[in-house]
Amino acid sequence: MSRIVYVNGNWVPEEEAVVSVFDRGFLMADGVYEVTSVLGGKLLDYPGHAARLERSLGELGMGMPMDADDLLEVHRALVEKNDLVDGMIYLQITRGNPGDRDFAFPPAETPQTVVLFTQSKPGLADAPKAKTGMKIITIDDIRWGRRDIKTVQLLYPSMGKMMAKKAGVDDAWMVEDGFVTEGTSNNAYIVAGGKIITRNLGTDILHGITRAAVLRFAREAQMEVEERPFTVAEAKAADEAFITSASSFVMPVVEIDGAAVGTGAPGSVATRLREIYLEESLKQAI
Ligand code: PDD
Repeated sequence: MSRIVYVNGNWVPEEEAVVSVFDRGFLMADGVYEVTSVLGGKLLDYPGHAARLERSLGELGMGMPMDADDLLEVHRALVEKNDLVDGMIYLQITRGNPGDRDFAFPPAETPQTVVLFTQSKPGLADAPKAKTGMKIITIDDIRWGRRDIKTVQLLYPSMGKMMAKKAGVDDAWMVEDGFVTEGTSNNAYIVAGGKIITRNLGTDILHGITRAAVLRFAREAQMEVEERPFTVAEAKAADEAFITSASSFVMPVVEIDGAAVGTGAPGSVATRLREIYLEESLKQAI
């Protein structure tokens, strides 16, 4: 069945969902995006994703092309029109189509491009990897300096995924000055000395919405959290490692650069946090 896609105020079958070749998203990667997961037809962590979207746009000097209520309505309508039960909603907003290629930003009144589509992932919450854990490699982080803005410049993360694939593993953690920044599309954590350790927020990582929720739930469950950079050596020597993202929730990491983490099986902290995250965020899903 063809998906129904939202393009600039219109609902169109995916075959007809098109934007201009002059769109700045296409020519300059001048756009931002969000991925919101859907479980049982409901949106997880929606307020966080909507708030980060507004921040990303603001940091790039773009406004919100529609008001908050309308944006939520579009998300809901998209779920309904596509009978989406489990999966994701992808949203992208670009600086639009100025009618030609030019490095300078177009006039502010140029209409932005707004696209939303669904990705169906039946059984998303029961991903088998949660039971076996992920294997990762480490790679250099050569991305730009504003990784806190969720832009569509995903070439290096895509290359990182390909390096992982070539190495026969699931993903890559990026490393800068010896310290882990984040995964190609997720935030990175270790558990050591009884503490959950994850890089502090700044311009060098994306401020994960799942990260914020998981750290809140961890603290509420009296788990100790330390927000600071950690090295690859620390990660390899840790008791556990895991990642978080909207599409994977909490996922254990059991191997780093060929070395087993802890026992080499998913750890109890990651497993518990996954359970808590799914339970609590489903309660708050809208
Ligand atoms: N990626 N760090 C990076 C570089 C990411 O791309 C993502 C999300 C995260 C986790 O953020 P959140 O918890 O808000 O999903 C961290 C999405 C899922 C993607 O690109 O598909």
